[in-house]
Amino acid sequence: MSEIGYIKIADVTLRDTPARDSCFKVVYSDAEMHEYGDMSELARREMIHRHMTNEMTSVDMAAAAVAEFPDAPWELRLELARQTWDEARHVRALYRRLLELGGHKGEFPISTLEWNVTCAVDNLPGRIAIQNRTLEAGAMDIMGGLSQSLRSVGDDATADTLDAINTDEVHHVRFSNRWIKRLAQSDPRVLMKVAGAIRFLQQANSKFQIKEGGEVNAIGKALDSPENRIPAVNVEDRKLAEFSDEEINEILRQAGYRSLVASESAP
Ligand SMILES: [Fe+2]
Ligand SMILES: [Fe+2]
Repeated sequence: MSEIGYIKIADVTLRDTPARDSCFKVVYSDAEMHEYGDMSELARREMIHRHMTNEMTSVDMAAAAVAEFPDAPWELRLELARQTWDEARHVRALYRRLLELGGHKGEFPISTLEWNVTCAVDNLPGRIAIQNRTLEAGAMDIMGGLSQSLRSVGDDATADTLDAINTDEVHHVRFSNRWIKRLAQSDPRVLMKVAGAIRFLQQANSKFQIKEGGEVNAIGKALDSPENRIPAVNVEDRKLAEFSDEEINEILRQAGYRSLVASESAP
């Protein structure tokens, strides 16, 4: 296996981009993506394509965690190996739905930034803090909201796919919450590593995310500012993933106290 090196983009040192089929165009900022932001068929295909290719980076990240940290506790490595399998199924499920909607792989630009950032971190607690506890927990919020929006326009098939994926994501987030606590109990420096990783993620996000509201993306859509792009919090799934009440309150505060409530947005 050849070593995957590092690259510098916008002054941030990131892990080099993983191999992708030649049909895919890899981009590095939100503004270069083709997010439509409505529920048209084109927008739904792009959303599915985007989630499918994010799941591909999830496969790569979990697999790299198994391969690059051979001395990690066996039970944690087993969780990561199972996660790799789950993520591969997520890719296939979304690909199937993309084809059903007349889409194809490579139809839209893709990002591998979740990998580039996560795998630049040199320790396992930091990696699962970024990938599982932050990015996948955030994805639970986004997918929960999207599922409700999809049902409101009658696309139950895509909503069912996202809901099924979210049940696996709950476990990925939960095992990272459990393992970070467990590792920190035996070595308090683990918390420093986790804090350092999250700082690095915030620094990278500030370079690649839309900075101000109104910035126009590659298909001419004006995007909301980062504060206004924070999704409503999926409190139910976050509880299942074993975030504490205190942590959920803090996440709610950051989201302007908007939470996913079935009676609010479900049809
Ligand atoms: Fe996934
Ligand atoms: Fe996951």
